[in-house]
Amino acid sequence: MTEQQLSIVIGSDHAAYALKAKIKDYLVKRSIDVRDAGCHSEASVDYPDFGIKVATMVSTGKFEKGILMCGTGIGMSMVANKFPQVRAALCNGLFAAMMSRRHNNSNILVMGARVIGDILAMEIVKVWLETPFDGGRHQRRLEKFDRID
Ligand code: RB5
Repeated sequence: MTEQQLSIVIGSDHAAYALKAKIKDYLVKRSIDVRDAGCHSEASVDYPDFGIKVATMVSTGKFEKGILMCGTGIGMSMVANKFPQVRAALCNGLFAAMMSRRHNNSNILVMGARVIGDILAMEIVKVWLETPFDGGRHQRRLEKFDRID
């Protein structure tokens, strides 16, 4: 799939609302079609409401990939990984972002807005988008836990 055809659904809670806006701009500049699942202001909300929205859309195949953000990224990754076919990876660094694609074929990137800065977050998104899955033995390993769903 070329990047022009890529659609990504993104979501956050209030703690990552400002970061979500920046990531959204970055994706739009890359001509990626972005669906913003909320939240829509810095007013306090509950992160599961938005994690569930994004994870549902990826789990059902409506979107191939998603990006979730909250304060630490922990809550969003816990929520998202409850959904079948979702492989959400909490990546607050570049190495984890790269390996989550190469070895784990992550389909939701999760970041913590209170943990990392905006520039690093953007670089993490870039690496995550541009790194393909290695397949091979890693596919076999994914299949072993896909069966749990
Ligand atoms: C909100 O205060 C905070 O708990 C949330 O953003 C997230 O870090 C949860 O894991």
